[in-house]
Amino acid sequence: MRLKTERDVCILAHSYQSREIIEIADFSGDSYQLSVAASTVPNKTVVMCGVRFMAETVKILSPQKTVILAHPNAGCPMAEQMSVEYINTVKRDCPDHAVVAYINTTAALKTVCDVCVTSSSAVKIVEKLPQKDILFIPDCNLGAYVAAQCPDKNVKLLEGGCPVHVAVYVEDVRRARAAHPDALLLVHPECTPQVLAQADFVGSTSAIMDYAGASHNDEFIIGTEMSIVQNLQYSHSYKKFYPLSHKLICPDMRITSLVHVLQAVQGTGGEAIELDSTTITEARACIDRMIEYGG
Ligand code: 13P
Ligand code: SF4
Repeated sequence: MRLKTERDVCILAHSYQSREIIEIADFSGDSYQLSVAASTVPNKTVVMCGVRFMAETVKILSPQKTVILAHPNAGCPMAEQMSVEYINTVKRDCPDHAVVAYINTTAALKTVCDVCVTSSSAVKIVEKLPQKDILFIPDCNLGAYVAAQCPDKNVKLLEGGCPVHVAVYVEDVRRARAAHPDALLLVHPECTPQVLAQADFVGSTSAIMDYAGASHNDEFIIGTEMSIVQNLQYSHSYKKFYPLSHKLICPDMRITSLVHVLQAVQGTGGEAIELDSTTITEARACIDRMIEYGG
């Protein structure tokens, strides 16, 4: 805490980070909230505790800042699933579609997309787009959820998704509901449509936490990364939270420890994000549009 003031560092932490990191962060939240916070941070250095695309988003929004990814190996496998070349090929077959990129994409991929969305802003943004035809990349589960919520839009999907959330099955829902019959099931839209169909509430990491906090119910089954179970339990000790599946562990989100954060703040660890100016300018357009439409 002393070092970050001395070195003028702001620590941003995604909600999936461990409790000890969330406690020393200046701001924690879901991907959308982190992007908005990143655009207004006053400090000259930002340490991102999360995964690479989140640090890239901060760099794109504040290129003059030093942006450090707290652990250099923290990537999001979904963000790497589709290449620029592949998406350009797909775009040739549907030139009139608006290309909507989940923010879980590389900076390079964002340069060939029209607008970014996050799990909390996707429906709102797609509804506001002037185009009826949408190419949604890379997460076909979030895309299918958006398509169901926006029946006036024609949403084309590709085969991509989060390897952690797709590993949850309806059988996990049956087992969890049987063990906790009074609990509400809160699920992230990266889960499959079959799992979402069983949920009492579908939302981003922050939306799940807000819903659980505000609900009159006392028990919840949490259908997203298990860190949310732990973080909710800290905040609401009188309520009970259960993981939907013990497979809901994202190794990339877990790789960062408090020691990595300390090293990043000291300037002896992490990785400073470097992006060329063309990538920053081209990727920024679709992040700016996300903040404009999503606010
Ligand atoms: P949020 O948009 O809810 O922060 O989710 C990001 C993510 O990586 C979920 O797996
Ligand atoms: Fe990426 Fe899935 Fe991990 Fe989120 S949980 S960072 S989408 S791999």
